[in-house]
Amino acid sequence: MRKVIIAGNWKMYKTQAETQEFLQGFLDTITETADDREIVLCVPFTDLATLSRNLHGTRIQVGAQNVHWEEAGAYTGEISPPMLTELNVRYVVIGHSERRQYFGETDATVNLRLKAAQKHGLTPILCVGETKQQRDAGETEALIQQQLEQALVGVDQQRLVIAYEPIWAIGTGDTCESKEANRIIGLIRSQLTNPNVTIQYGGSVKPGNVDEIMAQPEIDGALVGGASLEPQDFARIVNYQ
Ligand code: 13P
Repeated sequence: MRKVIIAGNWKMYKTQAETQEFLQGFLDTITETADDREIVLCVPFTDLATLSRNLHGTRIQVGAQNVHWEEAGAYTGEISPPMLTELNVRYVVIGHSERRQYFGETDATVNLRLKAAQKHGLTPILCVGETKQQRDAGETEALIQQQLEQALVGVDQQRLVIAYEPIWAIGTGDTCESKEANRIIGLIRSQLTNPNVTIQYGGSVKPGNVDEIMAQPEIDGALVGGASLEPQDFARIVNYQ
């Protein structure tokens, strides 16, 4: 059985005060959510402690947005696995296209981060996906195959989540057509040694399109940016029908 995981990626949004405000609006909306759906919030590092404290006893899991491969060291601006696990962090987004695009993340560093996360008991959410230019040039399948091949060397597929996030669909309102997302996610699955890995779709998931996306047979969840910042919107997504 593949696990359904709906995760919010807050990116660089929300102070601690805003996090508390979000929770006040959100926690009451998920009391009826089906038990077999995992709900995760991947928040900025400064919000992790607040979230972890306030989520105690709730069913929401805490996630981070990056992790370094060393346990400690002279790596200004980075965060280590033990720093996250100490705060009850369970998931970590790795290789998001914004990290690749703006901060020089490569498939090789993604691979190091994946292995370090798993070594410390964190479940990585590995992001893959193509640019508009690569899609138009017919390179999508080969690019994703390459991203997976390089990122997954030595990675345990029993404790892994993958998110297919076409870059052209992120933050644009231009959602990937659900059948096409389903096709690419099927291709991703065919490349794995464990067919039960949860594979999410990400890119302009909204209250208005989540039902159709989640109805696709290969799609096991969503990685949600903008719409995860509003309690009512994220609640509707988590409670998709
Ligand atoms: P949006 O939902 O804002 O398009 O962002 C998707 C994303 O990048 C999640 O990681």
